[in-house]
Amino acid sequence: MSDFIQSEITGGIQTICLNRPSKKNAITLDMYQALSDSLNEGESNSDVLVTVIYGAGHDFSSGNDVAEFVQIAQKPDKMSPIMVFLQTLSKYPKPLFAAVEGRAVGIGATMLLHCDMVFSAKKSSLCFPFVKLGVVPEAAASYLLPRLIGYQQAFEKLVLGEAFLAEEAYEIGMVNHLCEEGEALSLTMTYAEKLAQLPPEAVALSKGLLKKTQHEAVQKMLLREGEIFKERLQSKEAHTAFRAFLSRPKSN
Ligand code: COA
Repeated sequence: MSDFIQSEITGGIQTICLNRPSKKNAITLDMYQALSDSLNEGESNSDVLVTVIYGAGHDFSSGNDVAEFVQIAQKPDKMSPIMVFLQTLSKYPKPLFAAVEGRAVGIGATMLLHCDMVFSAKKSSLCFPFVKLGVVPEAAASYLLPRLIGYQQAFEKLVLGEAFLAEEAYEIGMVNHLCEEGEALSLTMTYAEKLAQLPPEAVALSKGLLKKTQHEAVQKMLLREGEIFKERLQSKEAHTAFRAFLSRPKSN
């Protein structure tokens, strides 16, 4: 397991921590593998009644590690841990909550669309920068987001790709509850504890029913987006965007 992912199980609640704060919890291929392993552990361990994902430090996640995008562009098969993670995430049968502080960018934002409840600090920001990076949305965001917030809103968020506050995400239905900065995890744990008191079989059956109508379409879109994403990683547009990020001047 990657040192940058920590999974703990206490009192029926599994917490999965994205623990790479020096890189704003950017996710590497090893971390995707470890995230899948943690979710598989959560699914198979009968002690786990609910899973909570959060980021160490001040941010949820700055998305895929951009330096690794360059490596994947050279060896596209390297992308498989990402696809395995997205499938595991989208099929996760137990309740999955996210606690968001700071930035939630790229897959740090699209993974929220698969969570059953999202709790966020008011001034956190979400961003889907795919098109600016020369790639396309992933994690079935192009299926899920229009259904969640309406087509035009989804187009703006996914194609213009500008960052927006959690306060707006709350207004348009992407976040369940807002809180002050630094309180997202404790708020999430309060709800996780409530959920852990409910009859687990009835909870699992209810989640299955709620997700049922979209399940097949989500799986198809994950694969379709994944194919296009992989091709786009090799495009000149993506190459230019990744180089620009990786060679930008440091702020201090
Ligand atoms: N991949 C790799 N490294 C990343 C990263 C990412 N997605 N996001 C942040 N980092 C690294 C930075 O390179 C920097 O490392 P350094 O200290 O060694 O230079 C460190 O994390 C801190 O990031 P920094 O950019 O200095 O912080 P900021 O507060 O100025 O900006 C972001 C934060 C998230 C807006 C900015 O880092 C960013 O745009 N990251 C890329 C997001 C992205 O495009 N993700 C892919 C989505 S598909």
